[in-house]
Amino acid sequence: MNPVIDVHVGAGAERRLAEDVFDGLTKPFKEIPPKHFYDSRGSELFERICELPEYYPTRAERSILADRAGEIVAAAGDPVELVELGSGSTLKARMLLDAMGEPERYVPVDVSERVVREAAHELADEYPGLEVHGVVGDFERHLGEVPAANGGGRLVALLGGTIGNFPPGTRRRLLRDVAGLLGPEDRFLLGTDLVKDPAVIEAAYNDPGGITAEFNRNLLRVINRELDADFEPDAFQHVAFFDRDREWIEMRLRATRPCRVRVAALGLDVQFAAGEELRTEISAKFTRRRLAADFAAAGLELATLWTDPDGLFAVSLAAPARR
Ligand code: AVJ
Repeated sequence: MNPVIDVHVGAGAERRLAEDVFDGLTKPFKEIPPKHFYDSRGSELFERICELPEYYPTRAERSILADRAGEIVAAAGDPVELVELGSGSTLKARMLLDAMGEPERYVPVDVSERVVREAAHELADEYPGLEVHGVVGDFERHLGEVPAANGGGRLVALLGGTIGNFPPGTRRRLLRDVAGLLGPEDRFLLGTDLVKDPAVIEAAYNDPGGITAEFNRNLLRVINRELDADFEPDAFQHVAFFDRDREWIEMRLRATRPCRVRVAALGLDVQFAAGEELRTEISAKFTRRRLAADFAAAGLELATLWTDPDGLFAVSLAAPARR
């Protein structure tokens, strides 16, 4: 079947970047949200990160899905529809769709139009009876554009550990919005990295080949290109550390010398003192307890949690809370 694709981002996306850069660079503690990493170069660098021996989350999550997809689908009540938020590559979707037997519909939702188009065409070709309805949108803003359920049960998935990128309040709001997509028989599948030895976590974000550092600095290239800025990426050093109190990884870019940056599209001049840092990402790590609490705050109930054999990563199934 030919896929249907709805596009809800476009010119709006650049405006978002402009707003985030203006807000983030005029604050006393500079910060830009991580969603702006992912232009085509950033997406490629992220794919390379996923293959690094130190970066365990992707492999761990894949192994959970490879081993447990059948159990997951059964525990979700044999859904006929998969909605995948932040879909990225189709690997995880395939594992779930294969376990679903005869899935009726797949709805990939991603900010990247290329990602949605590729995923939609690949899966429409490979799964003959499958209806594919792609949504190009930001799941922080466009959940309302996800097509209404088809009738049968639906599984909404947010995998990859992406949820960890949101600070606690935003995270719960997002989970609550996702809960709003679920009918009483529908289920939510969430992938989260787990709290563990900080040395293991820090190694995953400080690869010796510097791919993660390049990924981090790519944000400056995105800003240079999209907003006509003159960051010198080489003047910024990659920093990643585990904040033990907040249980999240923080990535920052540290100015190695005083810098003056002009962001022409915003008419903005920004100073960095030597050693000053720009926060570019948080990536929260979870415990079962924290997951259950976040779900509860969002009107969801943790049903089952699966981990890989080494207990590195979790895939959790949640149901709408009974009221
Ligand atoms: C895609 C957000 C899950 O937080 O581990 C990888 C992004 N940043 N290396 C993560 C990332 C640095 C990744 N997520």
